[in-house]
Amino acid sequence: MTSLIQQIGRLAIRTFKREPQVPEAVFNSRYEQLYNLVNRITPEDINLDHRLLSDRGQFNPSTDGAPVTYMQVYEDNDVTICVFILKRGVRLPLHDHPGMFGMLKVIHGAVSVQSYSHSNAESLEEKLQEILNTRPIAGVCPATKHPKLMVTASDNACRLSPNSENMHEILSVDGPAAFLDILSPPYGTDKRLGIERDCHYYQEIESFNVPYLSSDSLTLLVSIPSPSDFWCDQAEYTGPIIDRNAIEENGS
Ligand SMILES: [Fe+2]
Repeated sequence: MTSLIQQIGRLAIRTFKREPQVPEAVFNSRYEQLYNLVNRITPEDINLDHRLLSDRGQFNPSTDGAPVTYMQVYEDNDVTICVFILKRGVRLPLHDHPGMFGMLKVIHGAVSVQSYSHSNAESLEEKLQEILNTRPIAGVCPATKHPKLMVTASDNACRLSPNSENMHEILSVDGPAAFLDILSPPYGTDKRLGIERDCHYYQEIESFNVPYLSSDSLTLLVSIPSPSDFWCDQAEYTGPIIDRNAIEENGS
């Protein structure tokens, strides 16, 4: 019998494959099916070692090792499936997903998610020019700041796309937290496009409310080096293997 994570993996591969590219209507239909499957995933489905989720109190960098543990479940040229485990009180710094789709499903604990979308609002362009005229800053990115979300294991997955909620900061709340991430295309070398898809880190430098936007606000983000207090160690995935060949044999 095919396990849930294998069903998710196979459907993710079929949804996000780029050669040949999936027609838009088929993509949309598979994407929704995938979202529904992802919303059912639990730590048991991926055989997650519960010791990785144990709460050792507030994270102490001098005794607790890495603040974040990364576990790769599956990766090919078109999609990455992985798990991030955050110790109590730590964060994935504000980062982007250039040109990528993503689903983020909390499977343990709770996280707060502060998302941003790239913005080309005219008012922001003017504000940006004003700021740059007084103090030149490299790597400034105008963005829409969305309301902060509290997301637990009983909530549906958060979604991001190339044009929407593509940047976020994630903090564990009231204990360790873990989430499954499906990202497409993957970070790193994109062999299909011949480019490097790097992860960039940002910091908010200016936030101001805009009356015509009801709940969102416009902000300016500045590109920063990877924060020194953030790093990952790795854990081995020991759940059911996602086998790409099983799909290709079926020709779908
Ligand atoms: Fe992310």
